[in-house]
Amino acid sequence: MNRAGKAMITGASSGIGAVYADQLAARGLNLILVARDHNRLEAIAQRLRHTYSVEVSCLGVDLTQAAGLEQTLALLEQDLTLTMLVNSAGISPKDPVLESEEQSLAAMVNLNVNVLHRLTIRAAKVFSSRSLGAIINIASVVALMPEKFNGSYSASKSFVLVLTQALAGELALHGVQIQAVLPGFTRTELFERAGIDISVIPPDMLMNASELVEAALIGFERGELVTIPSLVDLALWRSFEHTRQQLAPYLSLQHPAPRYFNTPG
Ligand SMILES: NC(=O)c1ccc[n+]([C@@H]2O[C@H](COP(=O)([O-])OP(=O)(O)OC[C@H]3O[C@@H](n4cnc5c(N)ncnc54)[C@H](OP(=O)(O)O)[C@@H]3O)[C@@H](O)[C@H]2O)c1
Repeated sequence: MNRAGKAMITGASSGIGAVYADQLAARGLNLILVARDHNRLEAIAQRLRHTYSVEVSCLGVDLTQAAGLEQTLALLEQDLTLTMLVNSAGISPKDPVLESEEQSLAAMVNLNVNVLHRLTIRAAKVFSSRSLGAIINIASVVALMPEKFNGSYSASKSFVLVLTQALAGELALHGVQIQAVLPGFTRTELFERAGIDISVIPPDMLMNASELVEAALIGFERGELVTIPSLVDLALWRSFEHTRQQLAPYLSLQHPAPRYFNTPG
């Protein structure tokens, strides 16, 4: 990030995305801010231009609408100065799956999964062809603890984590960096938008978005593939990953394991 560059940030009108805008501008990156609320983006852009003397443009689009997504994908491809994509646009449900409307869960999966997937793949191809660039995907700790929250949301965030882990090897061959950030509860508008009272979250479990992004960017600058800002004991994550990798030789074999053989009588 020391070299001059430009970052496209989705979900930049509030919360984690808006803090990325601030902290990347502070590092001297020019920005493209993407979200639906154009007036809000423009107010953020004006402040960042004034404070950090960087170039900031705004794209007020709904990423779940075909036209808005296509416009964003086209910009990713056409702006030859882009060097980073931050996928932060996302929404959360309020209730458990069985108490949620199927349509609203589908709309959430569309933004959290389908939109992020299209943007990530397009950026991966574009940056790889230029042999530079970076992608930061905002997942969630519920990707690791899916039983603790709405299953559709947790699954959407597992998608983000797995996609990021899976692409890392391919991208590294082309000099492109990718990172998944796994926030825990973070003080943003996410809860209010979902209709969740943020005061029910124990304060010792709730991080400020600025602290979260500062830590995530330090992780990024150190080349971390997966950053879990809250996690003090990194050995826990390493041993979890080590155990997962150790499964590899046993996951695809010619015959089922002996415990699945029918025993006579
Ligand atoms: N807050 C947490 O506790 C927490 C924890 C783990 C992970 N996360 C993840 O962090 C990411 C950022 O969320 P946040 O906490 O910062 O929430 P937030 O303050 O509500 O920000 C969400 C952003 O997404 C944008 N957005 C929503 N729908 C959109 C659409 N259809 N098209 C384009 N932009 C859209 C919103 O802007 P507009 O309304 O202007 O479009 C806003 O800028 C999400 O992926 C979320 O799942 C959050």
